[in-house]
This record gives sequence, structure tokens and C-alpha cells, in this order.
Amino acid sequence: MKRFVGKNAREVSHFAAELISDLIKKKPNTVLGLPAGKTPIPIYRELVRRFEKGQIGFQGVSTFNLDEYVGLASGHPNSYRSFMQEHLFGQINVSPSQVRFPDVAASDAEAATARYEEAIQKGGGIDLQLLGIGLNGHIAFNEPGSSFASRTRVVTLAETTRKANTREFTSGEEVPRQAMTMGIGTILEAQKVILVALGGSKSKALAQALEGPPTEDVPASALRGHPDLTILADLAAAKRLSP
Ligand code: GLP
Repeated sequence: MKRFVGKNAREVSHFAAELISDLIKKKPNTVLGLPAGKTPIPIYRELVRRFEKGQIGFQGVSTFNLDEYVGLASGHPNSYRSFMQEHLFGQINVSPSQVRFPDVAASDAEAATARYEEAIQKGGGIDLQLLGIGLNGHIAFNEPGSSFASRTRVVTLAETTRKANTREFTSGEEVPRQAMTMGIGTILEAQKVILVALGGSKSKALAQALEGPPTEDVPASALRGHPDLTILADLAAAKRLSP
């Protein structure tokens, strides 16, 4: 496991963007696994900045998002698809055919989850999976109790997660109760995994994930079994880690 602790979110995000840019330069047809949430916003901003300066291009890149809410109307402003469009895809040179999301609109959800797994395989597998971490140690929407072997599926969100995500639903609408998410087993198959944690509120989950016993109670602890894991944290998120 590699670990980088930056002074603040800016330093961490620049470092993450550098790792992603380096990979795209080395392998222009890179397959990225991407999260939504507050954590990656400054990373996406930095990638957009590099694109605008002509330092990187995304023409060969394809992406698979980690998860999506179930039950939001297509094009809903709080869907993760809309989030990605706003923060990244709408500002770089990717076409709709290059980006994939779990198909939450499908009438047969189980078939849709199987298709998502197949699409990842057919795309050559994920080269780099970027992850945030939930307050309860979740990754993607794999809540505590998720099997480390889990695959893409529909899950019920923990109340702590719904509460944390109310900030995204400013219209007063309820946070959905379900989501479609890549499984932990799916995530662990990525060639390279980068977990980013920013802010003191993540320090407990991060310490449990990295230094507590690997357990399904802390989904991110599964990542310690990954051969190419990089942890990027700011000082506040890293404050409970042993030196
Ligand atoms: C969300 C997402 C995760 C994300 C995590 C942390 O609910 N499903 O993919 O990494 O929780 O979110 P944030 O970055 O907003 O703290």
C-alpha cells in the first residue's frame, strides 16, 4: 500500500489528478472507474484544468461510474449521471458512448447489473478505480455487511449514508432508499485503486479501514487485500493513522 498525506484538499487533489493524467498519457485508452460525491470534485476540477491547458486528452478514455441512485427520473439533477456531467464529462472531450453508468432505468435490474459487469470485462477491465470513503467506511454504495466478494447489484442505503447525502438534495426531496452499485469484488478487480479521504469527518472510517481488522463491518478494509492500492488523504483525514 502506498500512502500520500497532503496538507489540504488542494494538494491531495493535484496529486490524484497527476496520477490519473500520467496513466492516460501512458495508456490513452485507459478505463477509469469513477465516483461521485464531494471528495472527487476538486480532482475533476484539476483534470478539467489540465484538459483546457492541452496537457491531457480523453478521446481514448472510457469510464464506468461506481454507482447510481435507484428511483430518480432520468436527467434528475441529483443523479450521479448529472453530477458527472456537471463536474467532468460536460467539460472534457468524452462522448456519451465513452461513459457508462449502472442502468437504473432497466426494467430487469438483475439483468442490468449482469450487463454492467460484462461491459466492464469487455472494455478490458478497469485500469484505475478512484474511490471516496463513506462515514461508515462504505465504498461506492457497499454498506457495512457487504460481502468482499459482492458484485454489481441493487442495495439499500444505510440511514447514515442517506443523512450524509441530504446535502446533495437541496430541493427538499428525500434521498433515495436504494442504489445500484459495483460490488466490492468488482472494485477489487481494478488494476489500480486510489482511495481519497478528505476532512476530519473521514478520519475514523479511514483509520478503521487501514488499521483495524479487515471486516465486512468496514467495507473499505477489503482494499487492504488489493496489490496496487494508493491512499491519498489530507492531514485532517489522516489524523488518526499511525505514523
Ligand atoms: C457516497 C458515494 C460514494 C462516495 C461516498 C463518500 O454516498 N456513493 O461513492 O465515495 O459516499 O462521499 P463524499 O465524497 O461526498 O464524502
